[in-house]
Amino acid sequence: MVNQDLIVYLNGEYLPLNQAKVSVLDRGFLFGDGVYEVIPVYGGKPFRLAEHLERLSNSLAGIRMEQPLSTEAWGEMFSRLIQGVEDQQIYLQITRGAGTKRDHAFPKGVAPTVFTMCTAIAPIPASGVKAITVPDIRWQWCHIKAITLLANVLQKQQAVEEGCVEAIMHRDGFALEGATSNLFVLVNGILLTPPKDNDILPGITRDLVVEIAQANGIVLEQRKVLLEELRSAEEVWLTSSTREVLPVIELDGQQIGKGQPGPLWIRMNALYQERKELLRKGL
Ligand SMILES: Cc1ncc(COP(=O)(O)O)c(C=O)c1O
Repeated sequence: MVNQDLIVYLNGEYLPLNQAKVSVLDRGFLFGDGVYEVIPVYGGKPFRLAEHLERLSNSLAGIRMEQPLSTEAWGEMFSRLIQGVEDQQIYLQITRGAGTKRDHAFPKGVAPTVFTMCTAIAPIPASGVKAITVPDIRWQWCHIKAITLLANVLQKQQAVEEGCVEAIMHRDGFALEGATSNLFVLVNGILLTPPKDNDILPGITRDLVVEIAQANGIVLEQRKVLLEELRSAEEVWLTSSTREVLPVIELDGQQIGKGQPGPLWIRMNALYQERKELLRKGL
């Protein structure tokens, strides 16, 4: 549970969480009209900050909104909220603000609502997790990190009710991504991940895993992944800023590989942890 006295940022003010209030006419509340980011913090420093802020700008442009703050202003806000706590996560959300009535069309001259808080990061289950596959029922602009997450919420809930941690979505016979993560599969010794198009969120962790693979001679292809390839893969990983690189050991009740984190995951995870250590040491 988030501490109610936690100091959060709302529209230029720093105040306790239980005093941070927005209007019921806020378009985030009425329409899910907004975007968000989740940025991990290690050693008190945001990880891949430039990449997260660039994706935020792309998401804002995708819903025809301006960046409300400069890079410097975001940076100052984050250090104030981080308050020296070593490892945590920054959640930020921007909505199109509160109009004077409920109307789908954009209101004129309305300031956006900007909210940011820092909360604890959960430990990663390194022994591997179970996942299910589900049809992708989302809209067609999945590259935008929109707060409108009802489809993802329903899919994740289904996974949880089936004793799993993630739902991997598929469309037209292709596996795309998890409800809250990107997808990597090892097939015939080649690491595959779906390409960055509007079917998936361009994950910051996904890009880092691609970068690490390419820098370390791991054969990787960014191409469409057949659902059948996912099912018969030697290894399956899910990536996200808060879950890092997570090995999947069971999919729809069937064992993946030997039913334990595979050797390539062990290598990738070690390389990923090295990148976090570099940030901690300020390198
Ligand atoms: C649908 C979806 N795909 C992928 C990701 C992973 O993105 P990132 O690595 O930037 O956290 C997320 C993260 O929340 C997500 O919600």
